Amino acid sequence: MRDILPPESARWRRFTSVFAEVVEAAGYGQIIPPILEDFGVFTRIGEATDVVTKEMYDFVDKGDRHVALRPEWTASVCRAFVEHHPLTPWKTWYSGPNFRYEKPQRGRYRQFDQVGIEVLGADDPYLDVEVIALGWEFFHRLGLRRVDLIVNSLGEPDDRARYVAALRQHFEESELTSESRETLARNPLRVLDSKREHDAAAVAGAPRIADFYSTATAEHFAIVQAGLASLGVPFTVEPRLVRGLDYYRRTIFEYQGGTLDSAQNALGGGGRYDGLVEDLGGPSTPGIGFALGVDRTLLACDDEGVFDAPAAAVSVFVVDTTGGEQALLITDALRAAGVSADRAYEGRSMKSQMKAADRSGALVAVIVGSNELEAGTAVVRPLRTTDKQLDDHSQHVVSRTDLLESVQKVLP
Ligand code: HAM
Repeated sequence: MRDILPPESARWRRFTSVFAEVVEAAGYGQIIPPILEDFGVFTRIGEATDVVTKEMYDFVDKGDRHVALRPEWTASVCRAFVEHHPLTPWKTWYSGPNFRYEKPQRGRYRQFDQVGIEVLGADDPYLDVEVIALGWEFFHRLGLRRVDLIVNSLGEPDDRARYVAALRQHFEESELTSESRETLARNPLRVLDSKREHDAAAVAGAPRIADFYSTATAEHFAIVQAGLASLGVPFTVEPRLVRGLDYYRRTIFEYQGGTLDSAQNALGGGGRYDGLVEDLGGPSTPGIGFALGVDRTLLACDDEGVFDAPAAAVSVFVVDTTGGEQALLITDALRAAGVSADRAYEGRSMKSQMKAADRSGALVAVIVGSNELEAGTAVVRPLRTTDKQLDDHSQHVVSRTDLLESVQKVLP
């Protein structure tokens, strides 16, 4: 688990606001469910997934309830849907931390943030296109270029059951690592995810899900692909894409970054989970969504040299060598007028305060010494050039009554 300190934290906030802009423009509203839920909410993610069996931060609380810290949002959103029966289609977005007891490494943490969207109550393949394209648009807005979109359809539960049986038979007859044999016993689909060299031949020769689709699934997936193509969103169909959670049906997709290690290259992913609401005790309701890893996507931004939010700096730094009360009054007046302002404390020397002013990144210093205090004036000294100062870089002595106006004159 990591600390995110300023100025990096400002970038995280901007990340979320860009995401909110993109999805709110498409009719999504923010949901804020609790971080802690009944353990049973998350076991619906799939009894055969690592997220449930190995990685959950769960405990028994003081009231003897078995609870868990959220490892992902989809189950929480479906639980909230069952509880509040909103009108459908219910389009929500979210942003915040998740917890998974994983082995920490670059791009993989035990507390990590996701932003995402979920839509409940619509089966329309054009909704799949909208959801996938919104994620794509967001990466684009960040400035990321090295992102690949891969899509697949897992079929309906019946298609999938026939496929899983064929897959199981194929892998049972193949050469596999002992780890993959273990995975096979729990979930044959996950063997397709194996990146181990010894499994490569078995994975490459595995049956393909597309050969098991019903007509309805095939048609749904064909419309999704045609829709993405007509929006100009580039994608690859990857028949071996399975994703790590068990609730998926039909359309699934992943956004992969080009700069991270292959085990951490999924910047985000999602898909349809048409049975999850029912599993949580609600009516049969289709659902689709995605979640993007904030930590990982920001690493990809670093690697590509994009989305570097500039450090937040105040506009004005007030230097007061008369004891500090003038700085109190001036910063207060500036802030009240909407001009950001900071100051030094503890009656430091002029030199030390000017150093602090410089370090603060402020564009202008307002200086009050005993002469200025007596004369009812202040010195306005530009610290950095702004467009408005091209003609005159020098400092001005201004009357305290004109101070705000003079400062605003030199600020961009
Ligand atoms: P997920 O694939 O488990 O899907 O996670 C989505 C993204 O969260 C990953 O692609 C990755 O960027 C990030 N992520 C996951 N685990 C970690 C970690 N330990 N450290 C850093 N980043 C991580 C879901 O969570 C589904 N709920 C997505 C979804 C929404 N499907 C339908 N709707």
